[in-house]
Amino acid sequence: MTGRLQAPKGTHDLFPSDSERFAAVEATARRVFGAHGYGEIRTPTFEATELFARSVGETTDIVHKEMFTFPDRKGRSLTLRPENTAGVVRALVEKGLQDLPKPVRLWYAGPQFRYEQPQAGRYREFRQIGVELVGVPSASGDAEVIGMLFVFLRALGLADVRATINCIPKGEARAAFSRALQEHARPRASGFGEDDRKRLEENPLRLFDSKDPETKRVLEGAPATLDFLDDASRAHHEELKRLLPLLGVPFRESAAIVRGIDYYTLTVFEVTSDRLGAQNALLGGGRYDDLVADLGGPPTPAVGFAIGEDRLVEAMTSDARVPRTLFAVIPDGREDLVYALGVADEIRQLLPEAVVEADLLARGIGKGLGRAGQLASDPSRYAFRIAGVRAVLLGSKEREADSVTVKDLSTGAQETFPRRQLAERLAGRER
Ligand code: HAM
Repeated sequence: MTGRLQAPKGTHDLFPSDSERFAAVEATARRVFGAHGYGEIRTPTFEATELFARSVGETTDIVHKEMFTFPDRKGRSLTLRPENTAGVVRALVEKGLQDLPKPVRLWYAGPQFRYEQPQAGRYREFRQIGVELVGVPSASGDAEVIGMLFVFLRALGLADVRATINCIPKGEARAAFSRALQEHARPRASGFGEDDRKRLEENPLRLFDSKDPETKRVLEGAPATLDFLDDASRAHHEELKRLLPLLGVPFRESAAIVRGIDYYTLTVFEVTSDRLGAQNALLGGGRYDDLVADLGGPPTPAVGFAIGEDRLVEAMTSDARVPRTLFAVIPDGREDLVYALGVADEIRQLLPEAVVEADLLARGIGKGLGRAGQLASDPSRYAFRIAGVRAVLLGSKEREADSVTVKDLSTGAQETFPRRQLAERLAGRER
């Protein structure tokens, strides 16, 4: 077969400088979450299919319609992870959560896979940055993760964001809420599609995930989650509302936030961004007090969130890339290349923060300067933020005299000096 191959639908390649933006966001995550005592966990990108059916839930869109599921060569059903919470809990239970000091604080960053209809901000392979706090039953746990989330978002320059929170009843109160929802919707369900009819009977909470305008209309007058909370749950929710302002987290309440995943109990939250299009959910999270036990572990409360990293990078206006000085080391001809490589290496050792590129194609000073000028004039194409460009010009004159000529591309100033003076001449010029 001939012809050009394309990336699979819903995937996208990250070239420099995009990859560098993602790396900068992940470095900030590592710094902020690390400062709160969270360590990184990396779990497999595929898991047993059953894990997601038992955690995310059989009747959710994710499990029902969006999983990349395949048999391995021995016929075991595997699934590319659509999210990372289930894998983290599986890993903790497998490691022996009962023996680990609590609470367990973890974060992760990595690709997730959902077979969705691709559009701007919605991909089949996307990246999440997430956090899971395991072993804290009280609202102080919810407050810690949400507070830390806002420290992270602000560190990235996203100042104008607000959380929307809700509280979903659990246990008997949840069953009562589900019944009330059914009683409200059944007499009004004549216009429901097949999916929503099924949701209504099997898992009425999932009706809130429906995109069907008719279902949405019926839900407008539906009972509200907050009216069904038992006393302990209500106290939990009130405590969280008291703590969030102390941590500087702006929020509002909305009964419409139920999240499209079954494992949530009590707190759920989302952050949307006006800078995104139709897919404006920047992140989502919540408490999942029953999941660890449901997956065979010791009953352990937990709370966490996951940010859509692709959407986060899209919403950022600030440039988190590190500013660096670029040294374009340009040999005049092939015979100057070895000398140029030596000089390039020396500058790298003198200025570890700088970026030093030797023109390996040795097309001559003119072409080399042209490329350096292109980079300087279109810095978004480059992996780092360019703090300045210096061309190091090396022809037979420099090679024979063991000297270098350095040209500052922003001022045009140029000087030639002995190579042994590189250290003192470049001192203070790096970033
Ligand atoms: P989720 O709401 O399903 O939650 O996903 C979290 C975020 O991932 C979304 O808000 C969105 O930004 C991003 N996302 C989801 N699907 C796509 C897609 N197809 N393309 C691009 N971005 C997408 C979870 O996954 C939970 N595990 C969060 C959590 C952690 N809850 C507790 N701990």
